[in-house]
Amino acid sequence: MIYRYDFGTPLETGAIVSDVPVCSGDIRHFTAETDSSGPVSLTIRPGRDDILFGLGETLRSMNKRGYLYRSWNMDDFSHTENKHGIYASHNLLLFTGECGLFGVYIDDPGDVRWDLGYTDIDLVRITSVNGNFSCYIIEEDSLTGICRTFRKLTGRSYIPPPWAFGYIQSRWGYASSEDAERVLNEHRTRHIPLDAVSMDIDYMDRYMDFTWDKDKIPDLKKLCADMRSRHARLIPIIDAGVKQLDGYSVYDEGAEKGFFCKKADGTDFVAGVWPGYSCFPDFFRPAVRTWFGRKYHAMMDAGIEGFWNDMNEPALFYTPEKLQEMRNKARELLKKDAPLTEYETLKHIGSDLPNNDEDYRRFYHVLNGKTVRHDTVHNIYGAHMTMAAAEGAKSFDPDKRFLLFSRSSFAGAHRCGGVWQGDNSSWWSHILLNLRMMPSLNMAGFLYCGADLGGFSCDTTEDLMTRWLQLGVFTPLMRNHSALGAREQEVYRFSTWQDMRSVIRVRYALIPYLYSEFMKCALTDSMMYRPLAFDYPEDPLACRVEDQVMLGEDCMIAPVYEQNARGRCVYLPEAMLMIRFRSPEDADLIPLGKGHHYIDLALNEFPLFIRRGHIIPLVKAAESTDDIDTSSLFLYGWIEKDTSFTIYDDDGFTTAPDLEKGLRHIQVSIRDGKAAAGSDGLSLSTDHLILM
Ligand code: GLC
Repeated sequence: MIYRYDFGTPLETGAIVSDVPVCSGDIRHFTAETDSSGPVSLTIRPGRDDILFGLGETLRSMNKRGYLYRSWNMDDFSHTENKHGIYASHNLLLFTGECGLFGVYIDDPGDVRWDLGYTDIDLVRITSVNGNFSCYIIEEDSLTGICRTFRKLTGRSYIPPPWAFGYIQSRWGYASSEDAERVLNEHRTRHIPLDAVSMDIDYMDRYMDFTWDKDKIPDLKKLCADMRSRHARLIPIIDAGVKQLDGYSVYDEGAEKGFFCKKADGTDFVAGVWPGYSCFPDFFRPAVRTWFGRKYHAMMDAGIEGFWNDMNEPALFYTPEKLQEMRNKARELLKKDAPLTEYETLKHIGSDLPNNDEDYRRFYHVLNGKTVRHDTVHNIYGAHMTMAAAEGAKSFDPDKRFLLFSRSSFAGAHRCGGVWQGDNSSWWSHILLNLRMMPSLNMAGFLYCGADLGGFSCDTTEDLMTRWLQLGVFTPLMRNHSALGAREQEVYRFSTWQDMRSVIRVRYALIPYLYSEFMKCALTDSMMYRPLAFDYPEDPLACRVEDQVMLGEDCMIAPVYEQNARGRCVYLPEAMLMIRFRSPEDADLIPLGKGHHYIDLALNEFPLFIRRGHIIPLVKAAESTDDIDTSSLFLYGWIEKDTSFTIYDDDGFTTAPDLEKGLRHIQVSIRDGKAAAGSDGLSLSTDHLILM
């Protein structure tokens, strides 16, 4: 059941696709407090042990209890525990425990504060700073059910093409055809699987969107074709800000048509980002989305099939206004012997230049014909850039799936693209952060997601890279990306590259399984990653687990995330078969009972747990998704009676896949202590089935 309550004058966020009538009377579960100055708060006192899940892309634990979060999309490359939010706002929070079982979704495009027991451990206070929002209360009989209903409310998740499940190599600094070809060569000559190379801002001409530097990439079409002939693709970056430069056609057109966000005086709002001073398309206007979306066509014409959209919070490094303020302050200080406090002020102005609240109040959009100040709709800007890109892809070829992932997002964008978790660091704690964000992103509908493997900023280490890849095997987006200046971290740079190659090969052996689970989840509004509490709500130990997650219908994952650990403790909420992989061809199968286990895992080993009674298919590892043969499957599992698995396989291109048509049923029956498997047209091996 969904109950909707409106406060103030809610603004259209683009998140909701179903019509839900507005309820009158008191809001369920919460007490509403309105403040005459604008803010509206919803409060509730959950039981001391109640668990709170959700909030999508946020830091800290899966159970969000005890901290303060803020929905305010922010370009922040330092993902430390003290932060209240990063690039995205996913305003869905789930409650389970004494207070009941329900979810609350705050459909507010502006600033929302989530005090989840920070000020008072027994009090949850959700505050909409502007007080204009719709609140949806979702009641179902399971956590999974709440998330499914949320998806009914907000729409079906984006479905990428199957090649998006391949390994992607990226680095800020790849700029030219030679760079892309070199990366591909290094992988192919060593037989390290690879499906795509992603190109960062340096491929552009002076960081101008939809251009490429002709000295560095003389013939984009040829480059795409050459890479395709070697079963790989290019994924260029596109940033939100358009360089303000006369003679640059995207800028000229946008300025002439009045498509950029404006200041109160009617002039274009300008801020510095990578290209220097830039203007920001007003993506809320359908005409602007159409215009910007069609700009992707030139690269699609050249053969590009995937893009990553970045800097779309939008990130503002500085504005002329703030720079002027800083200059004035500095001049003032030059004139006198500055006391320490003045010096601190100057320092503060400097560090306050990027992404400043004052700057976010300086410009306006037109949303549904109404002029709105940016800060009141800040959190939906990136989502609308993703919508522009998706609309552009659709107008280019309505029947083809493109790969799209974005840094900033909001509910609704999950229908148009995936997300990556932004500028993490080469820290061990960020492996765990990557793991914990997967289920909360899934709750909000973002199924296609992943983090920069190896870490974006700071210098990675060989063991960190290996362990992180071992988690990346299971995330839909499996991309190694790093920052300019950080240690180069392509797999082939390391002495143990063969071990890393084995990890990536396991990924390719698992792609048909991962793709099947992904498609089944997308087409039935379910989640591919879940906290254990979703599957074992009656098991108090499982409900508190923060470093293992359920994967698909059949599996659980538990990565190693500590340096020099040669294993880890794992809690099994039921009996499971552990596959301890060293490579697809070299793995131990170990049946384990319910309970706590210490699992020994050398650096080149990582586990996958299959629930007892379930089977999963693996294939022969290939060097690209093009080369995966899904007709020969190796079944893995620990079973005692007849069982089945439903694999999903399709042409991978249609934008409106039909679940029923793609499903192939595999039946395993046990007769006289032996397993026999059957399915139309598939060759099945039962050698890896353990019968007990
Ligand atoms: C941002 C992105 C990062 C990218 C960099 C340069 O920091 O998050 O992934 O490499 O910009 O474009």
